[in-house]
Amino acid sequence: MVDRLTSSSDHTSKDLPVHVAIIMDGNGRWAKQRYMPRLEGHRQGAKSVRRAVEFCRSNGIKYLTLYAFSTENWERPESEVSGLMKLLTQFIDSEIEEIHRNDIRFNVIGQLQRLPESVRQKIKTALDKTCNNKTMTLSVALSYGGRQEIISAALKVHDKLVSGDLREDDLNDSVFSSFLDTAGVPDPDLLIRTGGELRISNFLLWQVAYAELYFTDLLWPSFDEDAFWKAIEAYRSRQRRFGKISEQIQSSA
Ligand code: FPP
Repeated sequence: MVDRLTSSSDHTSKDLPVHVAIIMDGNGRWAKQRYMPRLEGHRQGAKSVRRAVEFCRSNGIKYLTLYAFSTENWERPESEVSGLMKLLTQFIDSEIEEIHRNDIRFNVIGQLQRLPESVRQKIKTALDKTCNNKTMTLSVALSYGGRQEIISAALKVHDKLVSGDLREDDLNDSVFSSFLDTAGVPDPDLLIRTGGELRISNFLLWQVAYAELYFTDLLWPSFDEDAFWKAIEAYRSRQRRFGKISEQIQSSA
């Protein structure tokens, strides 16, 4: 209790990351530990999604990107894949009004053409409804793979070079970024992974080049507000040098 009180005094909006990306891992294990079906873990995971969005909105974190379904997740048993698709549409149905009321833009990244038509329709309605919202952007990565995203961007760049719309000399990091699914969204400052694994798992490979990485053993359904603050505090305690030396960072602060 004392610990909670002590740490909550640091919960100011100073030096918050602008963009937090999360690999939400551990739903299956959370369910298994409780002798429940895996899908129940995902259902509880969806509640954690709601909490994380509310955390970011209420603390002024402008961008939240969540890894909900990877290109590799298509290999899971059919019942789990369809259960996850159903959960996603239920999430949109139940949350989109509040998301919109809170001026949050709903965004998705990934190979959306692989999603079932009904899910694509639901997503399109949510995108259209919230496209002018400004307070925050919630991006959900669906059928997403970082390598696939980079290949697709490289092909688009190639087309532009061939057509003469882009000159080789003008191609730089920021121009390349504009061909990624995340165009217009700044790179993540903080990448959180729950569930104890220490990997990036093909998530935002290009974009996390300078992100601070934070790993926790907590399983995603147990990732609550206190856990989010711990990640933020770890982020604040680090010095981001972007390849420079500390004296250069201090003098420009
Ligand atoms: C990884 O845990 C989690 C997923 C593959 C799915 C994430 C989905 C949700 C959090 C719920 C729905 C999402 C939204 C945006 C409403 P795992 O199943 O790999 O867990 P395990 O490693 O313990 O088996």
